[in-house]
Amino acid sequence: MNLTQLSRKPPNVIAIYPGSFDPITNGHLDLIQRGSRMFDRLIVSILRNDNKQPLFDVEERTEMLREVVHVYPNVEVDSFDGLLVDHAAAHSATVLLRGIRAISDYEYELQMALMNRRLRPTIETVFMMANETYSFISSRLVKEVFGLGGNISGLVPPSVEVRMHQRMSKSKNKGA
Ligand code: PNS
Repeated sequence: MNLTQLSRKPPNVIAIYPGSFDPITNGHLDLIQRGSRMFDRLIVSILRNDNKQPLFDVEERTEMLREVVHVYPNVEVDSFDGLLVDHAAAHSATVLLRGIRAISDYEYELQMALMNRRLRPTIETVFMMANETYSFISSRLVKEVFGLGGNISGLVPPSVEVRMHQRMSKSKNKGA
């Protein structure tokens, strides 16, 4: 890697916003909206090879994301397997976008950012502070609260809430 390659700004800055998005929350959506104003193209990329048992499969998560990001012309949705930096390079992306909600996110994010930089020094991780309105929201908590009958309106986009109710009644019918 020579110095010129590292210092030259690409004419179009393409950023990848990676994650599990199971499901997308209003915190994610806020970051997407702000990211769309910072980068020429923003690709929201769903991790495929996750060990966690997801509530929604990758195809459903892709649909849910597309439903909410279609209003941003420079935002698209994709999914990936394997190394994030390889996925980013395949799209000529030079930025990985991540949100930080609280100091507890920092250690994990720092480790990932440093590992990704070691793997591909030309790709920079950019952190954005979560909007304070959404800084307590996580997909995990949304699922937990919803599963226990709590109100999740305002935490996820309305279309996602509808899907969660549909998923709930489907699994109830299966169990009946
Ligand atoms: O929404 P999440 O679960 O916090 O997102 C985590 C994600 C998808 C960003 C992370 O698990 C990831 O990048 N996985 C891809 C595998 C990889 O590249 N690992 C090495 C770099 S740390």
